[in-house]
Amino acid sequence: MATEPDRMEKTVSLAKRRGFIFPGSEIYGGLNGFWDYGPLGVELKRNIKQAWWDTVVRARDDIVGLDCAIIMNPRVWEASGHVDGFTDPLVDCKACKARFRADKVFAVVARDGQNTLLEAGVEADDPDAARDAATAAANSKTRRRLTQRDDRLEWDVLRVDRAPAGRTAPCPACGGELTPARKFNMMFKTFVGALEDSSSQAYLRPETAQGIFANYKNVLDTSRLKLPFGIAQIGKAFRNEINPRNYTFRSREFEQMEIEFFCHPSEADQWYRTWRDARFQWYVDLGLRSERLRLRDHEPDELAHYANACADVEYAFPFGVSELEGVANRTNYDLKRHQEFSGRDMTYFDDETKERFIPYVIEPSGGVDRAALAFLCEAYDEDQAPDEKGNMQARTVLRFHPRLAPVKVAVFPLVKKGGMPEKARKIYDDVRAHMPAFYDEKGAVGRRYRRQDEAGTPFCVTVDGQTAADDTVTVRERDAMVQERVPAPGVLDYVRDRLHV
Ligand code: GAP
Repeated sequence: MATEPDRMEKTVSLAKRRGFIFPGSEIYGGLNGFWDYGPLGVELKRNIKQAWWDTVVRARDDIVGLDCAIIMNPRVWEASGHVDGFTDPLVDCKACKARFRADKVFAVVARDGQNTLLEAGVEADDPDAARDAATAAANSKTRRRLTQRDDRLEWDVLRVDRAPAGRTAPCPACGGELTPARKFNMMFKTFVGALEDSSSQAYLRPETAQGIFANYKNVLDTSRLKLPFGIAQIGKAFRNEINPRNYTFRSREFEQMEIEFFCHPSEADQWYRTWRDARFQWYVDLGLRSERLRLRDHEPDELAHYANACADVEYAFPFGVSELEGVANRTNYDLKRHQEFSGRDMTYFDDETKERFIPYVIEPSGGVDRAALAFLCEAYDEDQAPDEKGNMQARTVLRFHPRLAPVKVAVFPLVKKGGMPEKARKIYDDVRAHMPAFYDEKGAVGRRYRRQDEAGTPFCVTVDGQTAADDTVTVRERDAMVQERVPAPGVLDYVRDRLHV
């Protein structure tokens, strides 16, 4: 079994080699925080989004969809609090010019009167680690090394944002002096129209949620929905992250899948719990093993200014446990603010109780790219498979849930003669009318199987010498590599029954 960092490296390299994910604008050296999805990656993402839409919109009577503009009136972002509050504290190194999030930098210094630097670093994204990474650093590696030197040595952990006057953490890259922390707004700015001044400044949306709040009345007035009901949206969001990292996990352009679920304030707690559990289960149902997943309730000091409760669905990525999706009780904060800033009435009138109020909102907010990365990491596996001569060889396989597999069936002629290609093409045409399929006639058939294993294709159908005699083909299953002879006219039903698609 590959070790975790090793596993991440191998997954990233497979994703590149097989056309799932490429660095954005790679031919120009890339652009940090931007990624492109290749032919297999785009299918994977489409399947994730479709599975989400089917679950939260199609299968329910109480949620409708929406697709809002990415650029909105900048007043939206004043009302939402993003203009003033969507900031990270930033520090620069005066010597090497490296840039860090101030709340992530720490240093361990000896209590020796000279503040001798023992260790400096940047915290991980892992929320547990993030909470006390500095202490952990001081307690583990540093303690071991230092106590070997002097077991009476004592030290302090310094944080840029919480350091006592005159004692600040140095640059974790070079040990140089860091600038004081300043606020950095993460919204990307642009200009609308020909004038480039403050009157024409606008933002690329940092979340899809505000488009939903801004259209809450439109949807209510044009549909026959009554509380409780939800509005769902999938779309791009942009954040000028200071340190994009962990592959696609923290990027500057990404896609969100968000629901704003409006309900009576007295029912908000119950809907919050219902959504939290339902969203966790969605990932399990699509193949993320529950021992790698967890639901973590936020501590009160972690809550965003608009939320009174929040839980994260977290996944144990090879680089650490990190957030896939957040479910928050946003109270009536957003609608109240938009009512205040726009002057439009955001209240809801209940015909039965004759009560007028601003609904509370439960928000399950997930990232498509993070889900894709988790499903890729989960699917990655290595085992042994026999080659043409029956010798066992290492094999790399993506064990995707069938719903998510970019290609469901590959069809091969064993060799390029004897009518096999024509027959295989015919089967391929029948299958691809119903599901994504792939035809391949080049190279040894064993190699063709391996290529499909790496793409995560659940079934390979091979037309061989026997097909002309009895109109059967072999169907090979990706995970157990078991081969079955199946009548050629029954191939579509055979795979459909097993894929549940
Ligand atoms: N409307 C609430 C909201 O946007 P968030 O926790 O900031 O909440 C929601 O983001 C989800 O969007 C996250 O759980 C994550 O899946 C995704 N996301 C946020 N920032 C991201 C980034 N820089 N790169 C990739 N995905 C991101």
